[in-house]
Amino acid sequence: MTQDQGGTAARTLSGIRAGLERVEPLETYGRVVAIRGLLVEVAGPVAAMRLGGRLDVEGAGSAGLIPCEIIGFQGDRALAMPFGSLEGVRRGCPAFVRDEAAGAIRPSPAWLGRVVDALGRPVDGLGPLANGPEIYPLRADPPPAHARRRVGKPLDLGVRCLNTFLTMCAGQRMGIFAGSGVGKSVLLSMLARYTAADVAVIGLVGERGREVQEFLQDDLGAAGLARSVVVVATSDEPALMRRNAAYVTLSVAEHFRDQGAKVLCMIDSITRFAMAQRDIGLAAGEPPTAKGYTPTVFSELPRLLERAGPGVGEGTISALFTVLVEGDDHNEPVADAVRGILDGHIVMERSIAERGRYPAVNVLRSVSRTMPRSCDPAFLPVVRRARKLLATYADMEELIRLGAYRAGASPEVDEAVALMPRLEAFLGQGKEEATSIGDGYARLAEIVGGS
Ligand SMILES: Nc1ncnc2c1ncn2[C@@H]1O[C@H](COP(=O)(O)OP(=O)(O)OP(=O)(O)O)[C@@H](O)[C@H]1O
Ligand SMILES: [Mg+2]
Repeated sequence: MTQDQGGTAARTLSGIRAGLERVEPLETYGRVVAIRGLLVEVAGPVAAMRLGGRLDVEGAGSAGLIPCEIIGFQGDRALAMPFGSLEGVRRGCPAFVRDEAAGAIRPSPAWLGRVVDALGRPVDGLGPLANGPEIYPLRADPPPAHARRRVGKPLDLGVRCLNTFLTMCAGQRMGIFAGSGVGKSVLLSMLARYTAADVAVIGLVGERGREVQEFLQDDLGAAGLARSVVVVATSDEPALMRRNAAYVTLSVAEHFRDQGAKVLCMIDSITRFAMAQRDIGLAAGEPPTAKGYTPTVFSELPRLLERAGPGVGEGTISALFTVLVEGDDHNEPVADAVRGILDGHIVMERSIAERGRYPAVNVLRSVSRTMPRSCDPAFLPVVRRARKLLATYADMEELIRLGAYRAGASPEVDEAVALMPRLEAFLGQGKEEATSIGDGYARLAEIVGGS
């Protein structure tokens, strides 16, 4: 090789190297071929895409990258749903395949006192959020049933009608069934502030935007927020965001559980989670069944709710999920499904709220499935007697109101009538008042006598 030839070869090599540096790294992408409502159909390397995986659709102009989740496949197309608005997306826009699940977060103790959205981004204007080292997928599996601990000791909720009549244990999961405006949000905020748990994680799913600030400022307050993480997806956000807010709530709770904390996890409401899943299922072409709910709603519900409960280590997730029961239809499909999965239900009634008694819990219609085991044996007779008095009064209520009951006809009823005002006062509790389990029992014993 002459010197001249050697120089040419070197120049060629460096030319190739420079050329290679200009080549962009290989990206797998498909193209948008159709948009139907909230659904984006993508054609291309479908084999490289997976259910629950992420696609970033590049909108035209200033739309930028719109993250989407793959929710199904049809023929040679992937069906995806966006986490944001689809405005600016055209046919032919590229959809980049990301090698990751559509959702994962990295919570850390710094999240306490903060408000995040369904992608784990801060939305409280308090600046960036420090992430933890571990990745928590949004759709985690529940801990294996055989390795799970049993529910622990009673958890002081700070609300006396629940503490005494419906005692909840650490790791128990209960539903709160109520119509709209009956006092769910206020009750949840009382629980977040007064519970003896270490951390409260609150998911506001499908709330009206205006109510979020009211809840944070008026109900929860600064002290309540300091020990809480709040996850928010308002009703105007896409179905995927509303559904994922519930997943994020559980993932954050799992993070604190893994740190060994006693977590109280609350989601308001599971009904709106089910509605979001219904929207997603219908868009993916699932058949509607009961009340338009699609089959995946009923397979996703247990997957979500089972994630709460005791873990395999020290930490526990005790959980309260609200369920909307419109028109007092306690047998609507979501309420039915949730009731079957959880370890108890708390029924709130409009008629009780209307007469001004809050929290408007109907003790007789509510059940904690860990009772009577969770109740202090010394107080079990007190609780039984109080329940009996309430039941006797409820049976006769109509007659008493109409004046058709004559005092003296039954000593049992007379006693219930005499004690009722004090029992009602016991069941009611102001927003700013907390009562421990011990104080609650003592007060009840004083009213109904005996211990
Ligand atoms: N413990 C309480 N003490 C006094 N008033 C209460 C209490 N709980 C609820 N209320 C009253 O009930 C109203 C409705 O309560 P809340 O907003 O909690 O209902 P909700 O069931 O969450 O309603 P929605 O279905 O609209 O979300 C409150 O504005 C408040 O006036
Ligand atoms: Mg509410």
